Amino acid sequence: MRKKITLIGAGQIGGTLAHLIALKELGDVVLFDVAAGIAKGKALDIAQSSPINKFNINLLGTDNYEDTKNSDVIIITAGVPRKPGMTRDDLLGINLKIIKQVANGIRKTSPNAFVICITNPLDVIVMALQKYSGLPKNKVIGMAGILDSSRFIYFLSQELKVPVQKIKSFVLGGHGDTMVAMLESTEIDGKKILDLVKEGKVKQQKLNEIVDRTKSGGAEIVKLLGNGSAFYAPAASGVEMAESYLKDLKKQLPCAAYLNGEYGTKDLYAGVPVIIGSSGVEKVVEIKLSNQEKENFKKSIDAVKELFNAAKKIDPSL
Ligand code: NAI
Ligand code: 2OP
Repeated sequence: MRKKITLIGAGQIGGTLAHLIALKELGDVVLFDVAAGIAKGKALDIAQSSPINKFNINLLGTDNYEDTKNSDVIIITAGVPRKPGMTRDDLLGINLKIIKQVANGIRKTSPNAFVICITNPLDVIVMALQKYSGLPKNKVIGMAGILDSSRFIYFLSQELKVPVQKIKSFVLGGHGDTMVAMLESTEIDGKKILDLVKEGKVKQQKLNEIVDRTKSGGAEIVKLLGNGSAFYAPAASGVEMAESYLKDLKKQLPCAAYLNGEYGTKDLYAGVPVIIGSSGVEKVVEIKLSNQEKENFKKSIDAVKELFNAAKKIDPSL
């Protein structure tokens, strides 16, 4: 039987997710949005491309949670992006309310789903989603690290003129200004980037600039687009997580996962490498960090904690 994949939020990322999932034939797609016309219109538009692209799945647009019943995977992008004049806390307040509605909508109808959250501010929203829904912690996960790592690898590839396939790296911590590029583990064509710096083949200054550009990778696109934020790379990242779960690929991917003591962090969601297989988050992989990386990771964790405390002030039930 085909798998059922529900996308809550049929905006820029939701629509792109639906298209990618259809092209890969990962399962039948339900596109849910409070703006029913957008969900229905996108589902129909993508379905009409099936004779051309030769995929054989069903697509449905809806604003009724009954249609999402018994989903295998749910990917959530419902929310609003930050608008001019809006503080981070304003955005947090609005998206917390939205995520509470979504949690109520999915917890009874799809209690066994693997749930991937993309809505920002990511680490805090995924933590709230898990608490509101009561779904198991290994089945509720946030997408950010794959995107941030992909941006970092792409920038390195452009600067060093090395194909992306030959670069290994990842970015951990919270999805914000404090995210941490793991330089100790970064390899260019099998060589440690820090050795290339020592040998003078990569300039430290250039590497610092690439790390900074990665941290503001989302803002750079927001500025260019003028309206809205990135959606192609975020959707590709969400699909990689869903695919690893559905096909039991057991890929190691940087994701916002629940930490219960790993990396010295308890009762918090943050970006770490995890194994995703048919049981959901099967393992948090603890890699060795340098002292500098440990310090930076801690700063990032503190920033996530601070924002979660702001969320608790907005909704004391958290
Ligand atoms: P968008 O504005 O195009 O789409 C959001 C959709 O959510 C809209 O169609 C809206 O009608 C819908 N929606 C609002 N309230 C809802 C509710 N209660 N139930 C169901 N649907 C609801 O936004 P886009 O570009 O798709 O981004 C979605 C979210 O993803 C934003 O919060 C954005 O900041 C975040 N994002 C996160 C990234 C990450 O790395 N985690 C990367 C890029 C974006
Ligand atoms: C991004 O990184 C805005 O979180 C979003 O593109």
